[in-house]
Amino acid sequence: GKSGYDHFMLKEIHEQPNALRQGLSGRLDELHGRIAAAEVAELDPPSAVHFLACGTSYHAALYGVELFRQAGIPAQAFLASEYATGRAPLPDGGLVVGVTQSGETADTLSALREARGAGAETLALTNVVESTAARECDHVLYIHSGPEIGVAATKTFSSQLVALNVLAESLVGPRVGTRDLLDGLRALPDHLQRVLDESRAEAVVDEYVDSDAFFFVGRGSNFPVALEGALKFKEITYEHAEGFAAGELKHGPLALVTGETPVFAVVTGDDERARKTIGNVKEVEARDAPVVAVTDGRSDVERYADHVLEIPEAHPRTAPVLANVQLQLVAYHTAARLGREIDKPRNLAKSVTVE
Ligand code: M6R
Repeated sequence: GKSGYDHFMLKEIHEQPNALRQGLSGRLDELHGRIAAAEVAELDPPSAVHFLACGTSYHAALYGVELFRQAGIPAQAFLASEYATGRAPLPDGGLVVGVTQSGETADTLSALREARGAGAETLALTNVVESTAARECDHVLYIHSGPEIGVAATKTFSSQLVALNVLAESLVGPRVGTRDLLDGLRALPDHLQRVLDESRAEAVVDEYVDSDAFFFVGRGSNFPVALEGALKFKEITYEHAEGFAAGELKHGPLALVTGETPVFAVVTGDDERARKTIGNVKEVEARDAPVVAVTDGRSDVERYADHVLEIPEAHPRTAPVLANVQLQLVAYHTAARLGREIDKPRNLAKSVTVE
């Protein structure tokens, strides 16, 4: 059942601290300063990685691309449904990773089959034990999120981001930064709990439910968060929402920005990327758009924001997970205010078994 929550989606949002604890269990080796999953321990570091995925899982894959590249492994993400036509050459020793919560998504399965047919080694990153992807791939890494009932993927997305870190670390082994990441991952469930306990999302969205459209922007690892924030929002509120790379605003989307289009800006850390995104926030502010900053407070983005949805200061790899939880709550509370059928949005299915 829903354990007292109004919807499975809200229940699953609240299950995230435990889902992440499960996903990390046995994978953080404090003694040796290693992050590794036994299932993939025998794998050599691949020469390159291609991620195949759809929807929310594709956003996880985009996050994976950045972290694999930081680990020194060339990586690309492909929409599974585009892979047949857009397939890029994979060098010898490359690995194809299907990111699929259900392990049953037809587009992802057929892209994986095509990759295998072309001789690639494949790995399924999935939540469902013995799912088709798990059975058909050469390797499998389970995200251990627990069952997800709501059509909107929430805890499985967070678990995928964590599992991608575990996968990259397992493949390349401990190096500079592994200890910090280990600390960051260990702290993540508690940080996430704090976001759930303290989020002001419900009060903030109340002001904006009647808006014309909702935009989400971010840079770097926060770009997939912006895309995911918008997808979740449109999926359950039926309102027009779009996610953009913050730097792309001025290349077109800015024409849509008005006083009736709130912009959710994800800004974490205080580096060059954060500063550039703040520059983009100033551009939308100048067009009178209400700005909601999702931030750890390290930069001064709140000076340009109408509202702040705060996350704890965290490791740069885990900050996107926390920021995304605020956006899950933004989508949820907006949909609840609008009286939508949150767990079963119109026209959508939990697992999409046709191409
Ligand atoms: O089971 P999968 O991860 O392969 O599902 C892929 C998408 O259909 C899925 O992520 C979908 O976008 C979400 N349910 C949206 O919340």
